[in-house]
Amino acid sequence: MWPRERLSARRLATLLGDWRGPGARSGAADLAAGVRLLVLDGRLPAGTGLPAERELAEALGASRTMVGAALRRLRADGLVASRQGSGSWITIPGAAIPVDPPPGADLIDLARAAPGAIAGTGAALERVRAPMADMIRGHGYSEQGLPVLREQIAERYAARGLPTDPDQIVVTSGAHHAFVLVLRMLAGPGDRVLVEQPTYPNALDAIRATGAIPMPVPLTDEGWQLDDFEAALRQTAPRLAYLIVDFHNPTGLRMPAETRPRLATALRRSRTTAVIDETLIEVDLDSGEPAPPSVAAFAGDRAITLGSASKSHWGGLRLGWIRASHDQVHQLLAARNGLDLGSSVLDQLLLTDLLRTSDAALAARRVELARGRDVLAAAVTEHLPGWTFRLPRGGLSLWCRLPAPASTRLAVAARNFGVRVAPGPRFGVHGLERWMRLPYPLPPDDLREAVRRLAAAAQTVWSGSAEVGESAETVPVA
Ligand SMILES: Cc1ncc(COP(=O)(O)O)c(C=O)c1O
Repeated sequence: MWPRERLSARRLATLLGDWRGPGARSGAADLAAGVRLLVLDGRLPAGTGLPAERELAEALGASRTMVGAALRRLRADGLVASRQGSGSWITIPGAAIPVDPPPGADLIDLARAAPGAIAGTGAALERVRAPMADMIRGHGYSEQGLPVLREQIAERYAARGLPTDPDQIVVTSGAHHAFVLVLRMLAGPGDRVLVEQPTYPNALDAIRATGAIPMPVPLTDEGWQLDDFEAALRQTAPRLAYLIVDFHNPTGLRMPAETRPRLATALRRSRTTAVIDETLIEVDLDSGEPAPPSVAAFAGDRAITLGSASKSHWGGLRLGWIRASHDQVHQLLAARNGLDLGSSVLDQLLLTDLLRTSDAALAARRVELARGRDVLAAAVTEHLPGWTFRLPRGGLSLWCRLPAPASTRLAVAARNFGVRVAPGPRFGVHGLERWMRLPYPLPPDDLREAVRRLAAAAQTVWSGSAEVGESAETVPVA
């Protein structure tokens, strides 16, 4: 494998944070352990080029001999490879590809905040046999998406008070794909993209993969501090903003209705287009209130809205959509030609049917998810002293504040106790070692057991006896 993007020494030093351990270990061992944690939690993917030893030593305020010794350790562990003239880069030995645990494996997956398929999916599959039989007479390509599905989606926006022409919709292979398409259309290397901190990790990866620079603005316990967002928009005039204003992943927060017009005004002033990710909008667990108007209702063309079937119906459908102006839709379709040529017709027919038939199942799912949230909250309160969280009114996870900044170490230790979990720093541009996301779309017994295991893992971390295991698996996040 050859090195991909080369990391600057400053960036690696930022990612490493406070890497010097308190104990008697040598600096080289601490540095190697720090890099190892970054590899295991996915922040240093295989192929990432490392900075030159001299630059890294300088950025870390460490000796070059010590950095050299740390790299030798990492090479001996198979985590780093070097070649004369090409420098060093991350390699992940053995079974490095993240896979879901095989059935029967004693591993509870808290890394993905994603429920199973909605009840009635099997019956819907039977019903789409007939329309599918009609479809297979044609060529099957639909770059913008099947008209019947786009009509359904447009009607849903209209019902929320946002009149929408079906031609303003592009069906995509999930909301993540939708975001990648928008980035491809609107952002390039060096462009700034404003994000909430914390935010959805795969969006950060997509921004970085474009060569753009994520600019974090913190969310507080109370949510969006509009003064901070306005200042960031004014001072940095980012090309794009990526915002999850409805049941934000990972915090579950929802932006109040009265804040939305103010956000729209700030976007207009700075000429920033906001990508408003509404992936979790249907996961409204007990607000009992009508949804606030979409940001697009105030921001017009300055807001491109993303939707998804993944959390309402099923992630395996791999279907989402973009709502944008007619002009933007044309540009998006042109951008799509260089990426893919449309989404699966069978999945689109299935989702069209599900959108028509699954209101009752969706209501039942909300009740079940609210129960999972409450079970998880009770288990955390009982078994994880010092952990705090705000009970979210929607979304799929608790965003927990830990008693010590050790989220990455805990995530790695948890793997040895049979829990896979994504550490806080995956959700931000920097920091967040004091935070951990715990999703609740799992059966109550699994949630309770996961928390018991996390508590056992936490004991080893707080006491300093945790092992950084030999598993070189990175954690996939949803
Ligand atoms: C905020 C947010 N956006 C996008 C996605 C990806 O959604 P999809 O499965 O539709 O690609 C997720 C999935 O967890 C998410 O939470």
